[in-house]
This record gives sequence, structure tokens and C-alpha cells, in this order.
Amino acid sequence: MEGVGASLAMGIPARLFYVIMRIVPPKIRSRMWKGLYQRMANSQTDSDFRFMNYGFEDDDRPLLKEGDEPNRLFIQLYNMNVRDTELQGKSVLEVGSGRGGGASWIAKTMHPETLVAVDYSGKAVRLCSKWYSNQKNLTFREGNAESLPLESNTFDVVYNVESSHCYANIPAFLSEVHRVLKPGGKFCWTDLRDRKSMDSLHEQFLEAGFEIDSNSEITENVVSALDKIDRDRRKMIRDRAPASLRKSFETFGGVPGTPIYEALKSGRISYFRYRLTSSRS
Ligand SMILES: C[S@@+](CC[C@H](N)C(=O)[O-])C[C@H]1O[C@@H](n2cnc3c(N)ncnc32)[C@H](O)[C@@H]1O
Repeated sequence: MEGVGASLAMGIPARLFYVIMRIVPPKIRSRMWKGLYQRMANSQTDSDFRFMNYGFEDDDRPLLKEGDEPNRLFIQLYNMNVRDTELQGKSVLEVGSGRGGGASWIAKTMHPETLVAVDYSGKAVRLCSKWYSNQKNLTFREGNAESLPLESNTFDVVYNVESSHCYANIPAFLSEVHRVLKPGGKFCWTDLRDRKSMDSLHEQFLEAGFEIDSNSEITENVVSALDKIDRDRRKMIRDRAPASLRKSFETFGGVPGTPIYEALKSGRISYFRYRLTSSRS
């Protein structure tokens, strides 16, 4: 089915792909996303390209090492998602870690005892295992968010950045996060949704056994980052992506003028952040 995902994902124009993604059943959508990310890991093996999110900007500008500075806005989305949660000395899990830039930054600056980073693109996981092999508190694992290959009651903190919109079965994902968290563990989630889906996700968080510590809408901060990233992202796509994929990369990269950016700008979709506590033992 992965092949079907890839051909569906890449054999059609980006705008049509975006429309199809909004109407196809969740299982097919999830396969299409997987095809897209596997193809991206295959065609983009450049280790400079370590983040696949839309970025975040506010007044909190963490001090970064020189090598991390080009990725500041993407790192700031990660930082925003976990900055009110203690990670030092903790057992931490990222679900949907992509090309590992966020997990690597958190593992080296926030000093968790262990950080396990899971993604269902086996190709991305193999790239990450090679790139970050010198970080002893960080490991990458291939796995599906909806059936995590991990023991129950293991993690103090689980976080998830701009990944859950790809999942076929959100209740299964939330039940898995709840299962692998220790009682009282924290779940830091951030992603984009339309208002109706967010309302239903809010209920699903509660039904899965989470208490809501805080939640906020951060669309303006994300759009502001997308505006800043625009020139560099277009250049990177022009320089690196094959011509047949450029439009798709621009659309999913949230470049101004493409559908996802315009939907964020107009309020048809918004970007949210929730911090939750696992409330059942
Ligand atoms: C937009 S990227 C974000 C990656 C990373 N969090 C970042 O900010 O750079 C979404 C990621 O979610 C992963 N993903 C999508 N569906 C998944 C699933 N069901 N299980 C695990 N990972 C999934 C994709 O492979 C991709 O790496």
C-alpha cells in the first residue's frame, strides 16, 4: 500500500492533492502521507534539512549554538511545545519525529535521561540513526503512532509536533500515548486543525483520560514564522527538489499563496497547542 500512497501523493498536482487529502477516508489519507514522507526521505538525504514544520515566533528566543541558528524558527516551535514542562533527567518520547532535528535539539539542550523518537517512515528513521548517532541519550525507532512499539507506563513526557494531522485513527493514537505514559505523565501536543476538528479533538483528549492543563491558539505566531521562512524555503525547494515535486513541497511547506498557508491566514484552519496530564493510573 505504501507504493499506492507514494504514487497518489506524487502523481498529481499539489492543489488537487490538497483537496483530495481533505475528502478521502482517514486510512487512505494516512497512507498518502506515508508515501509523501518516505519519498521525501529517499530523495532528500541532505543532513542540513532536519525540520519539517512551519515554525513559531514569539518574544521567547532561546539561546542557540551557531549551527542551530538557521533552524531557529523550527526549533522555536519545539521549544514552545515543551518549555513549561520539566524534561531534565526524564524519560521522554517524541511521536512523529521526522528528520530528527527537534529530538536532537531537545536531547542536547534539555538533558532528558533518555529520548526515544518514533516515526513511521523507516527511511527517515534510518537517516536519523546515522546523523545523530553521537547523542547517547537519543534513539530513533520506526513505528506507527497508532500502535507504538513501546512498553506501557514507561515515559514521563510524550510530545508531538505537527504530525497528528496525518494519523488515520486519533483515538488509537491518544490511547497509545496514554498507555506508554506513567500515571501523571505530561503530553505536549501541537498541530493544525479546522475549528470543528479541534472541538472534537478536545473531547477526544478528555475521553482518552487526559486532563487539560492549558491550551492556546498560536496561528499568528506560526504564520509570522512562515512569512519569515518564505524566501529561504522557496530557495531550498528550488535548489533541491526535483521539478516535478516543487509545487507539492511548496504547498506542504506552507509557502505564501499556496492553499495551507492561505487557509491559516484566513482562519479556515488554525494552529493549536495543548498541554495535558495523564489522569488515570
Ligand atoms: C510535518 S512532519 C513533522 C516532523 C517533525 N515533527 C518536525 O517538526 O520536523 C510529520 C511527521 O509525522 C510522521 N507521521 C505521520 N503519520 C505517522 C504515524 N501514523 N506514525 C508515526 N509517524 C507519523 C511523518 O512521517 C513525518 O515525519
